[in-house]
Amino acid sequence: MKHFLSLADLTPDEMGGLLDKAIALKTEWKQGGNRPILAGKSLGLLFQKPSLRTRVSFEMGMVHLGGYALYLSPFEIQLGKRESTADVARVLSRYVDGIMARVFSHTDILELAEYSSGPVINGLSDYNHPCQGLADFLTIVENKGHDLRGKKIAFIGDGNNVATSLLFGATKLGMDFAIAGAAGYEMREDVWHLGQQFAAESGCHIAATTDPVEAVTGADVIYTDVWASMGQEEEAAERARIFMPYQVNTALVAQAKPDVIVMHCLPAHRGQEITDAVCDGPHSVLWDQAENRMHAQKAILAELLA
Ligand code: CP
Ligand code: NVA
Repeated sequence: MKHFLSLADLTPDEMGGLLDKAIALKTEWKQGGNRPILAGKSLGLLFQKPSLRTRVSFEMGMVHLGGYALYLSPFEIQLGKRESTADVARVLSRYVDGIMARVFSHTDILELAEYSSGPVINGLSDYNHPCQGLADFLTIVENKGHDLRGKKIAFIGDGNNVATSLLFGATKLGMDFAIAGAAGYEMREDVWHLGQQFAAESGCHIAATTDPVEAVTGADVIYTDVWASMGQEEEAAERARIFMPYQVNTALVAQAKPDVIVMHCLPAHRGQEITDAVCDGPHSVLWDQAENRMHAQKAILAELLA
């Protein structure tokens, strides 16, 4: 593993190995602290968009492992505006051992990886959110066990970057995946084709529907995300109207398995894609899921930088 750009790039064994590593690092940390396996190592955190979880979990993850993280705000480097993405990669990678980047266009992630002398980690692009995906499967494994074959995840909402990483992760690990969303907001065709390919390899099923009840029927996990992602703010009002039938509320959760867990990458728009009752209710694993960002990313950092 040279970079961490998409769960689609990992073999099922590599993904399983990262999850095992994350569990070990989480256990070690809970028992009093991590060993400083990244002493002397540095990570540049390059952001084109806001963040709570990604920024803080990477920064504290580096601190816990004995390394150093350098936050670079959207106003600092101005990827592609102040200088080209390639030049940013060439220069920044002379100073830091690794680069974590959150960008608008995934082509910037690919360009950073091409021109950086060290590893690049995708901290969210318009295409996918693999750090989130890895943390999500850590959370799912903790709640549903290591063998996810025959288990089902239902994603309700926009076929976006977060849905993409979930599709890749589920199909790599052999978990059934269903998505329900409004017509016209489906997952990208190339993404769906990759999901079909991985599903054929692992022997699981994937399905897309416009009916949320159909998707959550038999589900072990219900997952949702905002209807308008960062960069789509001007579409927010229209999407709020179109996606209202896809709200994850108590009535929808009741259609899934009795022990279903409910997940959201956060930030949540309470009252839109998810209700307060579900966020704060008995099926919610939202806060463990958010914490797991840090543990999953430590595994990625250990793999790429140690
Ligand atoms: N889930 C997630 O990536 O959160 P932030 O946007 O706060 O980093
Ligand atoms: N789909 C959302 C995820 C935020 C973590 C976005 O891209 O804004």
